[in-house]
Amino acid sequence: MFKISLRNNRIFNCSSEDNLVEGAKKSGVILEHSCLIGRCSSCKVKVQSGQSFSTSKELGLTSEEIENGYILSCVRSPLTDMVLDTEDLSEYNIPSSRVIPAKIQDIQIIGEEIIKVVLRIPPTQSFKFLNGQYVNIIKGSIKRSYSIANTNADDHSLEFFIKNYIGGEMSQYWFNKAKKNDLLRIEGPKGTFFRRNQNVNNLIFLATGTGIAPVKSIMENLKQTSNLKYNIYLFWGNRYNQDFFWDPKETDIPVKFFPVLSRDKSAMVNNGYVQDILLKQDLDLSKSAVYACGSEKMIKEAEFKLVKRGLPEENFFSDAFVISN
Ligand code: FES
Repeated sequence: MFKISLRNNRIFNCSSEDNLVEGAKKSGVILEHSCLIGRCSSCKVKVQSGQSFSTSKELGLTSEEIENGYILSCVRSPLTDMVLDTEDLSEYNIPSSRVIPAKIQDIQIIGEEIIKVVLRIPPTQSFKFLNGQYVNIIKGSIKRSYSIANTNADDHSLEFFIKNYIGGEMSQYWFNKAKKNDLLRIEGPKGTFFRRNQNVNNLIFLATGTGIAPVKSIMENLKQTSNLKYNIYLFWGNRYNQDFFWDPKETDIPVKFFPVLSRDKSAMVNNGYVQDILLKQDLDLSKSAVYACGSEKMIKEAEFKLVKRGLPEENFFSDAFVISN
């Protein structure tokens, strides 16, 4: 067993048989994570001292990050005692993951190649999650990850925005066969994309496409927060104007919304990429927290550019789409 030290004097023991995320969990410590397969980079941490070995490829790291001593803790096991620059999230009381049945309550087309699906949990069960987390939806032998788009105020129904990936096995089901009352299973909740208790002035959300789902969940929950003390900004990128299938005004919170279009050059709105439109606003990033969900490319670029412009590295939280079909 090796001693792994984190910020705030948190320590856990981890054997070289376990990766750091698993080893931490066995000791009741939760490290930031999402995909657990070395792709999304949510679990990226800087090693301050100690050695480890990778159990599979760290696809979510750039060569600069590797040179600068970063690792992906979901695919790294210790070879020595280590000191990692990351925090223990166990104070957030993340509900344990489990598998329960769920039926399709509603299914609607809400955009080009996008549907909204509502799943109902049996009345004898309830499903706890933190706003922003995701679940795996299981249909027969196929399992795919989807972020929950509603808040945890209702623990009997879960809402999802689902995009059609042409040729994808699960997409075939959602877009050609799925119907009300179909029986599925959900596994979760999963991941650590939820709002942290931080003393910041600006809460900034970045999303591309259906990456708006966990952002919607977090933003809707902010309405329940008394004395909202943040300036809230949302930068949501889609290809075309008609792709905005949800109106952030529905949250009833004072959010400054920047719709961003990447393809529709004719429109009189923000054209380009969400991270670049954010940078044009000249916000004080040193007093901000950024929550980003969407494409891996957007997340990588956003983190790189925003940290360079003064965002504290530890205030960037992300959940990247890892497409498996
Ligand atoms: S890369 Fe480790 S959780 Fe995704």
